[in-house]
Amino acid sequence: MSSGAFGVYVHVPFCSTRCDYCDFATWTDRAHLVDDYVDACVADAERRAGATPAATSVFFGGGTPSLLTAAQVTRVLRAVPRVPGAEVTVECNPDSVDPAKLAAYREAGVTRLSFGVQSMRTHVLAALGRTHDPANVGRAVRWARAAGFHTFNLDLIFGTPGETVDDWRATLDAVLELEPPHVSAYALTVEPSTPLGRRVATGSPGPDEDDQATKYEVADDRLTAAGLGWYEISNWARPGHECRHNLLYWSQGPYLGIGCAAHGHTPARGAERGTPGSRRWWNVRAPERYLARIRAGRSPEAGEEHLDGDAAADEALALALRTRTGAPIAPAWAPLAGDLAALGLLEAAAAARGRAVLTRRGRLLGGEVTARLLAARAARTGRPARWHSVHSSANGPTPTATGARVRPTGPSSSPPPVPIHLERTGPRSPSS
Ligand SMILES: C[S@@+](CC[C@H](N)C(=O)[O-])C[C@H]1O[C@@H](n2cnc3c(N)ncnc32)[C@H](O)[C@@H]1O
Ligand code: SF4
Repeated sequence: MSSGAFGVYVHVPFCSTRCDYCDFATWTDRAHLVDDYVDACVADAERRAGATPAATSVFFGGGTPSLLTAAQVTRVLRAVPRVPGAEVTVECNPDSVDPAKLAAYREAGVTRLSFGVQSMRTHVLAALGRTHDPANVGRAVRWARAAGFHTFNLDLIFGTPGETVDDWRATLDAVLELEPPHVSAYALTVEPSTPLGRRVATGSPGPDEDDQATKYEVADDRLTAAGLGWYEISNWARPGHECRHNLLYWSQGPYLGIGCAAHGHTPARGAERGTPGSRRWWNVRAPERYLARIRAGRSPEAGEEHLDGDAAADEALALALRTRTGAPIAPAWAPLAGDLAALGLLEAAAAARGRAVLTRRGRLLGGEVTARLLAARAARTGRPARWHSVHSSANGPTPTATGARVRPTGPSSSPPPVPIHLERTGPRSPSS
C-alpha cells in the first residue's frame, strides 16, 4: 500500500467544548488564534513542499477541523501539493457543519468526511460530555450527501459506563440506517488527565473489558451483516471505501505532520524493500509555540526518534497484524502460527498461505498474539522485542519511545483470554 503513497496530516487544535474522555491536543479557549494558526500551517506546508512528494492523502484531524471555514481549508490545501485523485479527509463534529460549509469543502477539494458520532443514545452522549443531539448526525449525513460526498466515516465509541448492550445495538442500528460507507468503532479508553479519568480515579465505574469485548462482537456482527467488512481492528468499510490515509499509517508509510502536535514519519531509503529503519518526529504541542516557531522561521519539531531495523520490523508486524491483510509469517514462526491458528487466534487458511491474519477472537486478543510472535522473533535473534504501543485511530498510530516498555494493545495481564483494548489514538505527542 505505501509504495508511492505519501500522506500529509494537518492538526487542527480547536474545539468548542472539551469532551469528558478526550485528551487529544486541542483547546477550547483559542478561537482567537485560528487565523494565525492557518497562516502558520500554510507557511509550514509551503516550506516543506519542495522537499516532499505530492500527497496521495491529506487528513485534517483534531480537535475539530470543521471549525475551519472552507476558505481556511482551501488555503491549507493549496499549499499541499497533491496527486490527482488524492484522498482529502476532514474530521467534523456534527454540530459544526452546515450545507454551505460542506458544499464549500467539496469545492475546495475535500473528498471525504469523518463525523464524530460516538453514540446515538442521548444518555450515553451525556455521560461522554458530548453536546450534540443524535438527530444532528442524520442531518449532517444528508447534507454531506447533498454536497456530493460519496464517502464518509462515522466514529463510534463503545463501552461508556451506563451504556447497555441494547444501547449499543440501538446506536449501531441508527447509524446503519444512514448507510455509512465506513464506520470506526473504538472502545472507550480512560485517559487519566480527563474529567472521565478523574471520575474513575475517585471511584466512579469505568469501562468493563468483558462488556467492551461483547460490544465489539455485536458491532462486528452488525457491521458485517450490513456489508461493511473489517479491514483494521477498529475499522469497517464497504469495498473501495477504506481510508487510504490510515492504510498508509498501518503500512508504515511516509507522512508529514503539519500543525502543533502533529507527527511525521520518514522510512529510511529502501525501507519498503526490507532495508530497515525510519525516523519519526513530532511538533511542539501547543498552538502558541507552533506559531512562534513558524514566525521565527524555525522548525516546529520538538523531538524525534530513530527506529533501527529491528524496531521498525517489530512495529511493522504489530501494525500489519491489526489489518485484514495481516503480516507475512517468517518460516521460523510457522509452528507458532500453527499453534495460534489451532487456538482460533489466527485464520488457519491464511496461515497455511504464509500470512498471519487475526480471527475475530484473535482481534480481541491482538496484543497477546503480537506479543507471542515478537517474543518468538526475539528468541531467534537473541535481542529483546522492542515493539511499540500502536493503536488504530482516526489520526494514525501513536508510538511510544523506542525501547520503552511496550504496551501491547491490551491489558498486560495474562494468560488469555483477556480482551484487548480496542483503542483509538491520535496525534498525541509528548508534551513539549
Ligand atoms: C479527535 S476526535 C476528532 C473528531 C471530532 N472532534 C469529534 O469528536 O466529533 C477523533 C475520534 O477519536 C475518538 N476518541 C477520542 N478520545 C477517545 C477515547 N478516550 N476513547 C475512545 N475513542 C476516543 C472519538 O471517536 C473521536 O471521534
Ligand atoms: S472528542 Fe473531538 S470534539 Fe471532543 S474534545 Fe476531543 S477532539 Fe474535541
